[in-house]
Amino acid sequence: MRTETLSAAEPYLIRQDYTAYTQEQHAVWAELVERVYPELEKHAAREYLEGFEIIGLQRDCLPHLGSISARLEPRTGWNSTPVSGFLPAPAFFEMLATRRFPTTTWLRSKDSLEYTPEPDIFHDVFGHVPMHAHAVFAGFLERYGRVCAAMQDDAVLEKLGRIFWYTVEFGVIRQHGEIKAYGSGIISSQGECRNVMSGGCAIRDFTLDEVLRTPVKVDELHKLLFAVESFDQIYDAMNEAEQRAMNGTL
Ligand SMILES: [Fe+2]
Repeated sequence: MRTETLSAAEPYLIRQDYTAYTQEQHAVWAELVERVYPELEKHAAREYLEGFEIIGLQRDCLPHLGSISARLEPRTGWNSTPVSGFLPAPAFFEMLATRRFPTTTWLRSKDSLEYTPEPDIFHDVFGHVPMHAHAVFAGFLERYGRVCAAMQDDAVLEKLGRIFWYTVEFGVIRQHGEIKAYGSGIISSQGECRNVMSGGCAIRDFTLDEVLRTPVKVDELHKLLFAVESFDQIYDAMNEAEQRAMNGTL
């Protein structure tokens, strides 16, 4: 049972009204899953696919966040907490630091299956939450939240945001000689997944220095991403980033 109370994030907490979802919305979820899952069986990291089963995601109906959290919390202490929408940075970091993943409850419409300007429940739950069942990734994500929550300097936070972008959102890993996706932005987007897996994107070895000097681009398919060999690497990178941030060398 979590004891820390939220302050910055408190105004954004909502309840998920599961009964309000329509049959059409469940059908949109099913279509979204059907579009990408066959690709993911080939191209997603093993830990993502295991997490998908662990948290009990269904392919044909929207996720009930309470049920997801009930399966996830005993494993890693993470939960999937419903929020009203995009969170300001302090609220977002506060939630990550206490292993609560801010989760939107709305779903994109049938007319915009590939793209939404803001994250929806498909991006947040299908894309992100399975990885939270992996102990090392789970620890990394909490650490990211704790480090960012303690930082005031916008330039430092922008650099730390690049770590998040090239791991949590667009991370890839080498497994048995192949590139596999674990980042939500690849997992939840047919276009991004195909771009990466068809060789449309250069893949370099993940190093903290290179990630920190690679700005984020949000308006085009990626031309460069960074592959880790294991999730220990991103946990260690976060420790290193914290040390550098503390002594002013990030
Ligand atoms: Fe995301």
